[in-house]
Amino acid sequence: MASFMSRFFKFGSQNMAIDLGTANTLVYVQDRGIVLNEPSVVAIETINGIKRVKAVGDDAKMMMGKTPDSIEAIRPLRDGVIADIEIAEEMIKHFIRKVNGKRTSMFSPPEIVICVPSGSTSVERRAIRDAASNAGASQVYLILEPMAAAIGADMPVTEPVGSMVVDIGGGTTEVAVLSLRGLAYTTSVRVGGDKMDEAIVSYVRRHHNLLIGEATAERIKKDYGVASVPLDGIGESIQIKGRDLVNGVPKEITITQANIAEALSEPIGAIIEGVRIALENTAPELAADIVDQGIVLTGGGALIKGLDDYLREETGLPVSIAEDPLSCVALGTGRAMEDPIYRGVLMTA
Ligand SMILES: Nc1ncnc2c1ncn2[C@@H]1O[C@H](COP(=O)(O)OP(=O)(O)OP(=O)(O)O)[C@@H](O)[C@H]1O
Ligand SMILES: [Mg+2]
Repeated sequence: MASFMSRFFKFGSQNMAIDLGTANTLVYVQDRGIVLNEPSVVAIETINGIKRVKAVGDDAKMMMGKTPDSIEAIRPLRDGVIADIEIAEEMIKHFIRKVNGKRTSMFSPPEIVICVPSGSTSVERRAIRDAASNAGASQVYLILEPMAAAIGADMPVTEPVGSMVVDIGGGTTEVAVLSLRGLAYTTSVRVGGDKMDEAIVSYVRRHHNLLIGEATAERIKKDYGVASVPLDGIGESIQIKGRDLVNGVPKEITITQANIAEALSEPIGAIIEGVRIALENTAPELAADIVDQGIVLTGGGALIKGLDDYLREETGLPVSIAEDPLSCVALGTGRAMEDPIYRGVLMTA
């Protein structure tokens, strides 16, 4: 253990911590912090049967839903697991190259800490570790995503105190109870921001015969998404453009925030249910701590308006949102790499 920690502090190596998320990938470089934050999207072009990477990250996300037949915008991680390992590897390589820039040759190969969902199988973990190795890492360490989220949110994970983190990402929601550098309980629900987007797409299709893309649904969710019906029963009005399913032409409709709350009720209900199950399965001493410490929300889904209030009402516990929910996992992974106090949370397999 001592030997690898000292290697982490070796001068000049560009050691990295990577939050390889379903929706976004963030890279934290030792002593520099978060230097890259881009969508986990790869655009693949096929010419004469040969595939090649056309764009990665921001550039590729802009192409989503707008590509000609020869180009496909792919999200290699779906529902919190690797859906396409080769493309995931290409994406990791691309981001590492981007972070290193021209300096690659001056530095020894980096050591990389990469986070994995707590519910991932050993096969999935090996795939992620191999992808990072193939991308040029000299050594790869893994950290469980809820642990990283909790460290990034400044929760007391090293102390003998129970605390609960709920990380609502694009693909999964991870609920975990932490104490003494370990996960005392963890559950993962395959519901997150993506399922909310899908719920908006299907609501608009069912109630208005209007077809909208995922990117449009995501924009509506971020701008108007609410966890429960607004106090006046209506909220703001939202104009939505898409394609009419009956006659095929573009059209615009108006819905309300209350409609969005209705659309989101199923995915949000599944998240609340996950929290309830975790609370039911938490040992009494730790449960008592959570009554004092409360629940901390991280991940992009924590930004849905009113979700904290809703969870507070449903559980009767204090609920807070981490300072920068979208960065928590990357920050925590970086801190676990840099600070010896977190020794023990990094795994080699
Ligand atoms: N302001 C916002 N309101 C609601 N949702 C948001 C907001 N900002 C981002 N999101 C959503 O958060 C999700 C991305 O969150 P995050 O980056 O934490 O996921 P991830 O780490 O990539 O996914 P996972 O942890 O499941 O692998 C997306 O679904 C995005 O639409
Ligand atoms: Mg995440």
